[in-house]
Amino acid sequence: MRGARILGTGRALPPRVVTNAELTTMMDTTEEWIVQRTGIRERRFVEPGTGASDLGVEAARVAIERAGLTPKDIQFLIFATLSSDLFIPGAGVFVQEKMGMDTIGALDVRTQCTGFLYALSVAEAYVKSGFHDYVLVIGAEVHSTGLDMSTAGRDVSVIFGDGGGAVVVGPSEAGVGILSSHLHSEGKYARELMTEAPTSAESPRISKEMLDDRRHFAFMNGRAVFNHAVRRFPEVIHEALAANGMTVSDLSIVIPHQANLRISQAVAKALGLPPGKVFSNIEKYGNTTAASVPIALDECATEGRIRAGDLVCLAAFGSGFTWASSLIRW
Ligand SMILES: CC(C)(COP(=O)(O)OP(=O)(O)OC[C@H]1O[C@@H](n2cnc3c(N)ncnc32)[C@H](O)[C@@H]1OP(=O)(O)O)[C@@H](O)C(=O)NCCC(=O)NCCS
Repeated sequence: MRGARILGTGRALPPRVVTNAELTTMMDTTEEWIVQRTGIRERRFVEPGTGASDLGVEAARVAIERAGLTPKDIQFLIFATLSSDLFIPGAGVFVQEKMGMDTIGALDVRTQCTGFLYALSVAEAYVKSGFHDYVLVIGAEVHSTGLDMSTAGRDVSVIFGDGGGAVVVGPSEAGVGILSSHLHSEGKYARELMTEAPTSAESPRISKEMLDDRRHFAFMNGRAVFNHAVRRFPEVIHEALAANGMTVSDLSIVIPHQANLRISQAVAKALGLPPGKVFSNIEKYGNTTAASVPIALDECATEGRIRAGDLVCLAAFGSGFTWASSLIRW
C-alpha cells in the first residue's frame, strides 16, 4: 500500500483579539485565575456573520496553495467542527460551494476536540487505499457566538476561542507521512462535557424554557475532563509509538490539542519529555476545539519547529469522551 502525507497546511485566526482583561469587564473573573488555571492570555473572536465554514475556507485556501494544488484538484473534503454554520446541513458542503470545487464528497465529523484527528484518519485511509489522491481536511470553530459571557458561564467561556486550520493529504511513498492513527471513545462520560440543546429527544428541540435553563450553553465537569485527559493523552501517544516499534525518545515533537496548558504540562511530565517538546500556543488562541491541532501544526510547519524527517505525534482528548493520536514522519 502507498503512504499518505500532509502536503500543505494553513490556518485562519479572526483579527479580533479578546484579552483576559476584556473578559473581566463581562463576568466575575480575574486575569490571574485564567492564566494560572488554563495558561490562556488571549483568544480570537469572529465578527458577526462569520461561520465556521468561513474560517475553514480561509485556512483551506492557504493549505491547498502550499500543497501546490488548486481547489479543483481536491477529490474529497472532510470538515471537523462542533459549531457548524447551520444545525443542518454540516459545514462541509459550504466549503465545496465557496471554493468552487467540483461536486466532490463532503464529510462532516463531529467528535469535538478530536475531530481533526478523526478526520485526518479518514483522509489517511482514503489516500493509502487509493480511493482518493487529494483530500482536504479542515478543523474550524466559531465558539464565541455560543458562550455564556455572564458569571454563570465563566468556567467554560474563558477557555474557548475561534479559529480554523486545514491540511491537504496526498500520496507518498510507504513509511513517509502519516504512519498510523489511533482512535478511542468512552460514551459513559458523554455528559461530562456537552451541550444539551437543541435535542432530538425533546419536542420542540429548542424552547424558551431550555434557553432559560441555559441548556444551549456548554456544560463542563472540569475536574473529570482534566483527570481523564492527563491519563488518555500519554496512553494514546504510547499506543502510536508502540504500533510503529518506536519509543518516546524517537519523538521530535508532540503537538497536542490545546485544551489547557496544565494538561499539556502534565502530559509532558508523564511522557518524560521537556516542556519544549510538547508544543503550546494556547496563550494566544485559547482552546479552539477541532481547529487547535491543525492551527498548531501549521505554526510548527511554517515557523521551522518541524522539519523533513522529524517524528511528530499529534494527539487530542475531549468531549465524548474521545481521544486520538496520529504519528507522522514529516
Ligand atoms: C476548568 C478548570 C480550569 C477549573 O480549575 P479547578 O482548579 O478545577 O477549579 P474549580 O473547578 O475547583 O473551581 C475553583 C473555583 O474557581 C471558580 N471559577 C470557575 N471559573 C472561574 C473563572 N473563570 N474565574 C474565576 N473563578 C472561576 C469556581 O467557581 C470555584 O469557586 P468555588 O471554589 O468558590 O466553588 C480545570 O478543572 C480544568 O482545567 N479542567 C479541564 C478543562 C479543559 O481542559 N477543558 C477543555 C476540554 S477539551
